[in-house]
Amino acid sequence: MNKSNKALIGGIAVGLAGLAIARYVRDCNSGNKAEEIWTTANIPDLTGKVIVVTGANSGIGYEAAREMARKGARTILACRSLDKARVALEQIQSEIAGAQVEIMGLDLASQQSIRRFAYEFTSRYDRLDILVNNAGIMWTPYSKTEDGFESQFGTNHLGHFALTGLLINHLLKTPGSRVVNVSSIGHRNGIMDFDNLMFEGGNGYSRHGAYSRSKLANLLFTDELERRCRAINADAIAVAAHPGGSNTNLSRHVENLWFVRILRPLLEWMTQSPAMGALPTLRAAVDPAVRGGQYYGPGGFMEMTGYPILVQSNAASHNLADARQLWSVSEELTGVTFEVFDERTNKYQGVTR
Ligand SMILES: NC(=O)c1ccc[n+]([C@@H]2O[C@H](COP(=O)([O-])OP(=O)(O)OC[C@H]3O[C@@H](n4cnc5c(N)ncnc54)[C@H](OP(=O)(O)O)[C@@H]3O)[C@@H](O)[C@H]2O)c1
Repeated sequence: MNKSNKALIGGIAVGLAGLAIARYVRDCNSGNKAEEIWTTANIPDLTGKVIVVTGANSGIGYEAAREMARKGARTILACRSLDKARVALEQIQSEIAGAQVEIMGLDLASQQSIRRFAYEFTSRYDRLDILVNNAGIMWTPYSKTEDGFESQFGTNHLGHFALTGLLINHLLKTPGSRVVNVSSIGHRNGIMDFDNLMFEGGNGYSRHGAYSRSKLANLLFTDELERRCRAINADAIAVAAHPGGSNTNLSRHVENLWFVRILRPLLEWMTQSPAMGALPTLRAAVDPAVRGGQYYGPGGFMEMTGYPILVQSNAASHNLADARQLWSVSEELTGVTFEVFDERTNKYQGVTR
């Protein structure tokens, strides 16, 4: 067994012990106080809103997209596999009569695909109320995206960074718009190392290290985007959410490892359904009480399960210098610049270009 697998087993063992305790405590105590029970019944009418959910064919994204469609939103399922997207679309349409749902191709591991999606979307729609940056991969072996980015960082962070940048003008012209970035409890293990941001050549790579870094990046990006929105007095906010532990397809890249196969039933027992896991994302996306920069997660023990409440991410996720550096590195790597922020900031300061 190599060093990376040993570390992964260790990480999973510690995680499972935590989960078992969490489950035990949850079963003894419902987790949330009565006034904290926020469910899909709290979702307001979304008629007239245009919403994009990335990775909407599966897990959290599917659940969130379906519930927003149920409330009348025109919901775009942005998926890398159109076949899978079609299945999701048909499921939603069979469940919700008249649902305004459509599918569009989006591969976040391809800057070309992201640009194609943004072009198609902005040609067809003149507003974007909610962008849910949900899609993600976890614990993949070392690999690179089409553009040479380490896959987890490239997909989970850089893909969404570029997508948001290409859609920012639509977001800014839509009253009360939101960007929701889906992070993870795993951000707490993330370390930003700008000297080896993408584990060049596999150097220092570990599956969980790269995943945690990408999820920390989701939060740094949220903070910096929110700061920039405030700097130009935008009527748009950036928020974050995490689903706790939810039984989805996310663990597919470690599914074949022997210890994961053995632990699978235990994992299913200890985590919550995708429908519950989607509630923090939904709350961040639609609750009128949500404010820019906030982070929502399950209210139960260790934020693993339960109904969504306002939670706190760690200090590293609010590191201003890291957020700024990540922003400029992400602009350089993707070639997507959020020019509107510089232009409008300069205008407010009376600077003419
Ligand atoms: N489940 C949990 O316990 C948990 C915990 C913490 C955080 N999260 C976060 O929740 C989010 C959703 O994950 P999930 O649990 O719902 O997992 P999931 O069921 O595996 O869904 C992930 C979605 O992302 C899509 N995706 C992956 N790579 C993509 C790419 N290159 N371009 C476009 N879409 C891509 C997948 O498409 P395919 O179906 O085609 O692969 C799928 O639709 C992720 O950001 C994850 O990090 C989940």
